[in-house]
Amino acid sequence: MDASNVVAGHRVIPVVVINDRRKALKLGELFLEAGMSCIEVTLRTANALGCIEAMVEEFPDAKMGAGSVVTPDQLRAAESAGAEFVVSPGASAELIAAADSTHWVPGAATASEIMKLRGAGYRTVKFFPAELLGGVNAIRALSEPIAGIQLFPTGGISESNLSEYLGLERVACVGGSWLAPKGDIENDRWSDIQARCKSLQRTLTSI
Ligand code: 3PG
Repeated sequence: MDASNVVAGHRVIPVVVINDRRKALKLGELFLEAGMSCIEVTLRTANALGCIEAMVEEFPDAKMGAGSVVTPDQLRAAESAGAEFVVSPGASAELIAAADSTHWVPGAATASEIMKLRGAGYRTVKFFPAELLGGVNAIRALSEPIAGIQLFPTGGISESNLSEYLGLERVACVGGSWLAPKGDIENDRWSDIQARCKSLQRTLTSI
């Protein structure tokens, strides 16, 4: 009963805020071209679900997920849109009751929250907002006493601190919006996004 399969085989999951289906397809192409086939579209725009639907249809080999899910209704809507996994910034009793634990990655920020999720059977937990919580030092400290949990940190991660996170045994993979920030998507700065994806691809081969 856990969502290890969501992150398995992926070291970086791009997190995006997007509202336009056409742009979502363009972005999907750039990510896939750079070897990133697991993508999280946050439910922070009116048409995020439409973007997920479009990407699921266009990229059948990609693993599309929904992020920023805070209510059971959003969880069900994400699943109906075809999301293969769902990520939340935290966890609530309602979501724990509603979620299918094999593809839901709940979030935690403290030892107590991680322990509660562990007790509920979760083995893969989002650690958010990672950098504000102490980043790699916080993960190292939490990993010592809490066994059997792998973390998916997001929040403040970029290419500059990526290797520190991926070097930690407990870090399954990381997520972040640095590859395709909202402003770049809104202003069609595709070559900037592509350059970051390619740079990441090079960096990952050396980690
Ligand atoms: C998330 O939803 O996981 C975070 O917003 C991603 O954090 P970042 O924007 O700092 O990468």
